[in-house]
Amino acid sequence: MALLTIILGILVIALVAACLYLTQHRGVVESFGIPYIKPFLIFGSPPFAFHKINYQDWMIGQCKKLGRTWGRYDGINPTIVSIDPEFIKQVTVKQFDSFTDTFDFHTPDDSTTLDISQGDTWRALRKMLSPTFTTGKMKSMLEPMEAIAERTVDYIEEKVKNNSTIDVKPILQGFTLDTIAKCAFGLETKAYKGEDDQFAKTAYDVFNQFRADTWTNVLFFNIVSHFPVISRFFNLWPESAMKIREMTTQIMNERDKNNVEVGDFIDRLREHKANVEPPVTPPMIDAQGIVFLTAGFETTATTLGHMCYLLAKNPDAQEALYEEIMRVCDSSAKIDHETIKDMHLLEGAFNETLRIRPPVTEHDRLCTKDCVVEGIKIPKGTRIQLPNLPAHIDEEFFPDPFAFKPERFLKENAHQITPFTWRPFGSGNRVCIAQRFATTEVLIFMAKLLSRFRILDSPSTKLNYFRGDLFLLSHSEMNIKFELRA
Ligand code: HEM
Repeated sequence: MALLTIILGILVIALVAACLYLTQHRGVVESFGIPYIKPFLIFGSPPFAFHKINYQDWMIGQCKKLGRTWGRYDGINPTIVSIDPEFIKQVTVKQFDSFTDTFDFHTPDDSTTLDISQGDTWRALRKMLSPTFTTGKMKSMLEPMEAIAERTVDYIEEKVKNNSTIDVKPILQGFTLDTIAKCAFGLETKAYKGEDDQFAKTAYDVFNQFRADTWTNVLFFNIVSHFPVISRFFNLWPESAMKIREMTTQIMNERDKNNVEVGDFIDRLREHKANVEPPVTPPMIDAQGIVFLTAGFETTATTLGHMCYLLAKNPDAQEALYEEIMRVCDSSAKIDHETIKDMHLLEGAFNETLRIRPPVTEHDRLCTKDCVVEGIKIPKGTRIQLPNLPAHIDEEFFPDPFAFKPERFLKENAHQITPFTWRPFGSGNRVCIAQRFATTEVLIFMAKLLSRFRILDSPSTKLNYFRGDLFLLSHSEMNIKFELRA
């Protein structure tokens, strides 16, 4: 009897402690003075069953219902969601010193990557890695990129000889994986034609781990958002991410041993590893391979898939792009990083694709210092969620939002776009570090593809998104009909 009383007593104390822990920030969201989604009992604000809803549709619906800035409890964390350009400008630029971090996602220091690193560690890593993408350093990556694009388009030509409609998604994934493998790591892979599948699988796996598509994954996401402290004690990177880190270390060691210098991303890491200073550590340098390989391929492959889809559905826009490509490369000029600079409509089509179908659907910040933004008193620890899709289809920001109009982004129309409304690459000081690299890669590939083929709609040209994607808009397949131009 006494034992039972002790057990019951312990259970009651544990339950009260859990309730106090889970409700410790109650009142914070209410104090913002903005519309908010009420929390449910001792839990955060719904939704919880991410695998049963389309998260992007849910987010668009909430922005319509609650306005441009609203609040919620993401697990136990007070959160502000905003698509208001002025609010976003303050958070990502003007008051960046109070919002230097992205997530409260603690991994051990030796596996922190640029995208999740915080404070001074982020500043040091960003300073170290930014030169990888300056004009000078990018030049050495462009030649291999052009050759990889050319052979991939050749491969598409070979494939469509047998069947004009093909699922082009694995080829696009292979192209972007081969490009990042070569440009960043100096590796010769042939993922575009299904070779090197073990390497490809490792890179895909890192992404797949962050999908809330089964109830076990959903449970995991809910536990971490209600008990974020857990992330301080475990390495939340999946096994596949650790494999990429090992691979990065191996390549660096081999080059050290053979005294080889290529001038790519790996060489930048080697340079810095030799003179590393705190807070950056040598193992942390090896870990940067994880984000460059994973962020570097699926985002770009999804964008290429979306662009093929939108051009198949908009043949007039596609013809205008073809004419531009032919005009720029009329005589002997070939499609390369120089000639694409004059393809303004093509770049407009890329930007318009990213507007209607952004592959990364939000960027986040964490308040690291109490501050006031647009009259809202924001305490340290508040999460800031900045979805881009609801802004991209807001009629006031982009009239006729569902129409595909590349000309919106031409120089003469640029003044009509309110700053901080188009954010596929995020915004401010932590904007995507490889924006120019990704843009060049897509433009070179699409110019080569469109110069050779007419991309046609077919009954199987559909967009099927994965369930449970919380911050991505990625499709499983992309069936496109290709017609060789005369
Ligand atoms: C179409 C392609 C891409 C899109 C749409 C995209 C989108 C984004 C977005 C939305 C962010 C968050 C920015 C913010 O918080 O404000 C980001 C960050 C980042 N991206 Fe990209 N990205 C793309 C391609 C790439 C590529 C090719 C690489 C690497 C080679 C890359 C590496 C990174 C890294 C390292 C960060 C973290 C930057 C930091 O926190 O300082 N991305 N990207």
